[in-house]
Amino acid sequence: MTSAVPSAVVTAVDTVDARLRRELLACWTEVTNAGGAVGFVPPVTEDDVAPVLDALLDRVRQGRERLVVLTEDGALAGWAVLSLSLSPLRRHWATVLRVQVHPHRQGRGLGRVLLSGVHAVARDSGLEMLHLTVREGYGLERFYAQWGYREFGRMPGAIRLGPGDDREELHLYVRL
Ligand SMILES: CC(C)(COP(=O)(O)OP(=O)(O)OC[C@H]1O[C@@H](n2cnc3c(N)ncnc32)[C@H](O)[C@@H]1OP(=O)(O)O)[C@@H](O)C(=O)NCCC(=O)NCCS
Repeated sequence: MTSAVPSAVVTAVDTVDARLRRELLACWTEVTNAGGAVGFVPPVTEDDVAPVLDALLDRVRQGRERLVVLTEDGALAGWAVLSLSLSPLRRHWATVLRVQVHPHRQGRGLGRVLLSGVHAVARDSGLEMLHLTVREGYGLERFYAQWGYREFGRMPGAIRLGPGDDREELHLYVRL
């Protein structure tokens, strides 16, 4: 899949080799430490992130999650995950998780390329709808609004960033 950023390519990846695992780990750690909202509170080390990444890669191997990778000039530039439901009642939609572009590469349109690629992978997988959550106070709902994501609910205090710093979690969805 090619894009408006000429050297950027988005692919669904089923098999993760040692090099790609190292790149995913470095990216997730650096995105977190740059303030990204991707499941951790900074600061983190690769040792903190590795067990969570390896559990995610196990789910990819089991077919429970689809890993979508963005490369630029052959190097990992970002990634995201489509989390599929085991329930037969929920197989027509997925939750998008871990959307991230490496901090050195943000602000050049790659996030848009990545999410458009995630949507293409989702459509090719037969999905009809996507769900995701964003933390209150990061402005990320404006990023997702470009694809038509709409808020349908908020869970007060769902995210604890630290003592006395609870945030709402906004639930968004889009029909593909
Ligand atoms: C969110 C993220 C993936 C966007 O990637 P990016 O490469 O910086 O985004 P792009 O350059 O493609 O920006 C596309 C558009 O989205 C907007 N946008 C980007 N990041 C945004 C943000 N955090 N909040 C609101 N709007 C944002 C840009 O302004 C741009 O709009 P414009 O063309 O009208 O100026 C990236 O900033 C990131 O990895 N952030 C840290 C991880 C994170 O918090 N992920 C979200 C998990 S819910």
